[in-house]
Amino acid sequence: MASAPQLTVNEALLAAYQGAIPSHVAVIMDGNGRWAQERGMMRLKGHRAGADAVRCVVESCRYLGVDILTLYAFSSQNWGRPVEEVSGLMTLFDIYIKKERKRLLENEIRLQVIGDRGRLSKKLQRAIGKLEEESAHNDKMILQVAVSYGGREEILAATRRIARAAADGALDPDEIDEETFGRFLYTEGRPDPDLVIRTSGECRVSNFLLWQIAYSELHITDTLWPDFDEAHLLAAFSDFGNRQRRFGKTADQVSS
Ligand code: IPE
Ligand code: IPE
Ligand code: MG
Repeated sequence: MASAPQLTVNEALLAAYQGAIPSHVAVIMDGNGRWAQERGMMRLKGHRAGADAVRCVVESCRYLGVDILTLYAFSSQNWGRPVEEVSGLMTLFDIYIKKERKRLLENEIRLQVIGDRGRLSKKLQRAIGKLEEESAHNDKMILQVAVSYGGREEILAATRRIARAAADGALDPDEIDEETFGRFLYTEGRPDPDLVIRTSGECRVSNFLLWQIAYSELHITDTLWPDFDEAHLLAAFSDFGNRQRRFGKTADQVSS
């Protein structure tokens, strides 16, 4: 018998929600540093508080039936931060994998890390690879965590692999279409985000999923990431539910 999901979320609030649920939700989790600074704390404390918000959003999305949740945890450009902050963040990823392993597996969530994982420590690469393997057959939700990730870097990496395949004669250049290109990205052809949420009020995409968000709806909230909870998530979903996605067509075409 399948075990009941182990969730720590505000189930009453989530259960009462009647609105739209995007299939793929992507989040730019921003504002940890400011959250800490506002409290006179070290930036790393903000990142630690951010990890609690990650659990809340992962489990809320799992509860609501989101198919894919993509979290932007560390960009290619974030390597340029002070070394203590970078190493503190790497330690937090390691702790997250260890601490959340059991809950992710119990909740039948599949983990996939996207990004240039070759830049991570061997130890962290092993821990990630192991949990990806252990969770590979889980089908309740895919959790894509973008670490050492950059959208331009991803497109370049895909282009290099495509060029190599074409040079080897394994791929006909005339047959490279959007679908083919998508399969060479870190996201391996999985569906694009329907909704992108960015916290902390910044109105930019900061090199996140540049190819994949071509037609995603954007929801920007001033809330700093460590304060983001079930209520903020539902507010983003209901905002999403009020949008008309036109994909280049006219409003009349879409509504008919
Ligand atoms: C987001 O919070 C987490 C990472 C980028 C790793 P920030 O650390 O960017 O927080 P702010 O933007 O400085 O407040
Ligand atoms: C984007 O946040 C990256 C992550 C949330 C991991 P940043 O804080 O790095 O983005 P900028 O520098 O404000 O654009
Ligand atoms: Mg930031």
